[in-house]
Amino acid sequence: MPFESPSMLSIVQDLDLRFCAETPDHAAAIEGICAEAFGPGRFTRAAERVRERVPHDPALSLVALLGGEVVGSVRQTRVAIGGVPAVMLGPLAVRPRFKKRGIGRTLMAMAAEAARLSGERAIFLVGDRAYYMPLGYRPLPVGSVTMPGPVDEERILGLELEPGAWVGVSGLVGPRL
Ligand SMILES: CC(C)(COP(=O)(O)OP(=O)(O)OC[C@H]1O[C@@H](n2cnc3c(N)ncnc32)[C@H](O)[C@@H]1OP(=O)(O)O)[C@@H](O)C(=O)NCCC(=O)NCCS
Repeated sequence: MPFESPSMLSIVQDLDLRFCAETPDHAAAIEGICAEAFGPGRFTRAAERVRERVPHDPALSLVALLGGEVVGSVRQTRVAIGGVPAVMLGPLAVRPRFKKRGIGRTLMAMAAEAARLSGERAIFLVGDRAYYMPLGYRPLPVGSVTMPGPVDEERILGLELEPGAWVGVSGLVGPRL
């Protein structure tokens, strides 16, 4: 599935980057990038508790490739919050050498578009407001989204893919029934 758009052309030309949906061939490289970015502590995160129960969806997950090498990755998982479908985004990571060139925000934009095109209405993540709010994410009401593990609720951020998609959504994050 190719993901390219005119707004990303300058990055693509500068770096000979390509963005595509994740395939099984990318798994080992993504694991390496996440180990480099988050260290062993990544396995203790609340989001990891969700991903243990619900595998991420490769069709909603993207890699940035430079000369065939994976230099960035974003994954998304189809979950439910109190029974309402939503997408959980993460992890997002870019190889240190390739940071600050727009790869992260390009992966984020493409992830949102892939989710929207597949019929999803809302995405959430646990992350830094300073990075994600300029990308359209907004804090969700504290207490509305319950993760299966400790999390700083101020860091739970949501993106509407349809207006009003977050209204009244509340409950435990888990598998869809
Ligand atoms: C966060 C990350 C994916 C951004 O990737 P990237 O390709 O460098 O992102 P972009 O090029 O789109 O944006 C870079 C900008 O975001 C800023 N930024 C990066 N991480 C940030 C953070 N946590 N909070 C605020 N700003 C951040 C950079 O300083 C840079 O700012 P500048 O454009 O003013 O120089 C990358 O830094 C990374 O892999 N970090 C380690 C893993 C991580 O923290 N993932 C996010 C989990 S919440």
